[in-house]
Amino acid sequence: MKILVTGGAGYIGSHTLLQLLGARHEVLVIDNYSNSSPEALVRVKKLAGSGFKICEGDILDTCFLNTVFTEFQPEAVIHFAGLKSVGDSNRDPLEYYTRNVSGSIGLFRCMQQHNCSRIVFSSSATVYGEANYLPYDEAHSLSPTNPYGRTKFFIEEVIRDWVRSWDGSSAVLLRYFNPVGADSSGLIGEDPTGTPSNLLPFVSQVAVGRLDKLIVFGDDYNTRDGSGERDYIHVEDLARAHLAAIEYSWENSGCEAINVGTGRGATVFETIEAFERASGCKIPFQCAPRRAGDIASSIASVRKAEQLLGWKAKLNLEQMCQTAWNWQKNNPYGYVSTV
Ligand code: NAD
Ligand code: WQD
Repeated sequence: MKILVTGGAGYIGSHTLLQLLGARHEVLVIDNYSNSSPEALVRVKKLAGSGFKICEGDILDTCFLNTVFTEFQPEAVIHFAGLKSVGDSNRDPLEYYTRNVSGSIGLFRCMQQHNCSRIVFSSSATVYGEANYLPYDEAHSLSPTNPYGRTKFFIEEVIRDWVRSWDGSSAVLLRYFNPVGADSSGLIGEDPTGTPSNLLPFVSQVAVGRLDKLIVFGDDYNTRDGSGERDYIHVEDLARAHLAAIEYSWENSGCEAINVGTGRGATVFETIEAFERASGCKIPFQCAPRRAGDIASSIASVRKAEQLLGWKAKLNLEQMCQTAWNWQKNNPYGYVSTV
């Protein structure tokens, strides 16, 4: 298949490229490098041992998009490009609605103009909001609690209406739980700008000596040990889910939202212990009050992914921590370490 990948230089995009190239799909990446480095794509090419086209540009630039679609004529799109910080979205919601929602609508319009009717979209478990029951299945009510989450919710709704209006079109909305880890080569991985807000990158940077200690946000939740519980999913498993989803979209029409997680939760304390075992490094931490907007537990029901995509997570928390550590110790400052 000819697949256009927006945001392909990013954390999840770069790992997904490896899967797509491994399955011999023809790929073109669009990225404006606002939150990534071209070096990630250099390394993907090296790892995959095969090439793909790269066009630097912004999905908000409709002229640019039109040229890319005219020249490449993609049969399907995997849409990663977007902003993803919950904190920034609270500070500047209009930027988030413009980049994520308007940017996506411009992309969909271009797809329609060029008769490209298949899409896999990066959604998020954050669309569910506070849990009425666990694990979250895809029928759980949607009630995101921050502007970032609402951009994902609105884009899902736009895609649903769009697919309904276009016979034969197909969309898979992948609701990622908590993606972590890195490719086992240690050549590509998560490279956040500034101080990380997510747990695993923060712990990795403590282990490598960039940060002094972890602050555990809340030890009084109603969980096994009082700390927050999440369904961490290895980025390699997540990347495989994209391959399964794009192939599903080739065979099927209509719109499906599908959770991507393991169906198992790990608390913050369990994650610290797993990382200590994987790295041999002690992670100093200090408990502090809960972080505003956090929930106690988030765990995916993974039945639909198994049933529709024939996909299941294979890698466990130890492997997530080992690969995250392998990436961090080989690239202590991310992609700039070696550029
Ligand atoms: P990332 O920031 O590493 O990757 C996003 C990529 O898109 C970056 O390379 C960035 O430069 C590019 N980009 C951003 N805006 C662009 C624009 N307007 N035009 C062109 N390129 C643009 O993020 P990621 O972790 O790889 O996440 C990928 C997608 O998955 C995002 O949409 C994110 O919201 C979603 N998601 C991520 C997580 C997570 O925890 N990482 C969880 C759920 C959903
Ligand atoms: C996990 C657990 C924290 C940092 C976020 C977004 C969500 C999605 C994934 C994109 C929680 C605790 C964290 C720290 C800590 N992204 N923690 N100290 O909050 O589940 O989800 O990323 O779609 O939208 O909200 O992930 O990694 O930030 O937190 O104690 O320094 O670790 O309280 O219990 P979260 P996280």
